[in-house]
Amino acid sequence: MSLEPIALQQLPKDLDLQRLPQHVAVIMDGNGRWAKNRGRPRIMGHQKGVDILKNLLYCCRDWGVPALTAYAFSTENWGRPSEEVEFLMTLFERVLRRELEEMMAENVRIRFVGNLEKLPQSLQSEIAKAMQDTEANSGIQFTVATNYGGREEIVQACRAIASKVEQGYIQATDIDEDLFEQHLYTKGLHHPDLLIRTSGEMRISNFLLWQMAYAEIYVTDTLWPDFDRSEFHRALLAYQKRDRRFGRVNI
Ligand code: FPP
Repeated sequence: MSLEPIALQQLPKDLDLQRLPQHVAVIMDGNGRWAKNRGRPRIMGHQKGVDILKNLLYCCRDWGVPALTAYAFSTENWGRPSEEVEFLMTLFERVLRRELEEMMAENVRIRFVGNLEKLPQSLQSEIAKAMQDTEANSGIQFTVATNYGGREEIVQACRAIASKVEQGYIQATDIDEDLFEQHLYTKGLHHPDLLIRTSGEMRISNFLLWQMAYAEIYVTDTLWPDFDRSEFHRALLAYQKRDRRFGRVNI
């Protein structure tokens, strides 16, 4: 993906353009604590979290990171209080409706990954529209993991492949990593180079389990609603200092 001139101008001088991650994934943790620290209901944290995510999306675009994936709702998040789950579902829908026009104007390609069939029907419709409308956009690739679980993604891929074997379309010996990839929700998406998790938790939490094999993990104590451009700058500086060997040795 080619960089627009604006990216070259705005990239902080201490970052190396040649060593930018091609895909950043984020676990946006700490919304509830951020709100609680201010004596506000947890949902205020999620609301603020949306603005932070939008800022990060534009920051990636401006600095030349071509793909961003955000973990918005996990398969385990259904276990939260029903009012919070309902708030989040309504928030996703409202944000999609509100932002779609701007995302089109900004040439953003939106994709949702996860078991989308379990989401409320009205949200599914907004998701389908956003994905269809932005499909041909050639700018930053923005992926939102919603009702997403890495284990569930792997199991559904196995089921789809097994069914093809059963029906005789392929043989068991045809199954390799490339074929497996083709059955993941993230098919065609570059694997994340950098995973950022906010709020200090050192866990992957069932996020992109297959795709994260060689991602560099960056954890900050900062809560998601406080994760601004300077925090992202720090994360990229840390990433550029890493020695990525992919299992090999550097001689
Ligand atoms: C984790 O913080 C955050 C979430 C489960 C929700 C994140 C969702 C958004 C920021 C909205 C994104 C919107 C769109 C349209 C993509 P937490 O509640 O677990 O915080 P805590 O650990 O402090 O309780």
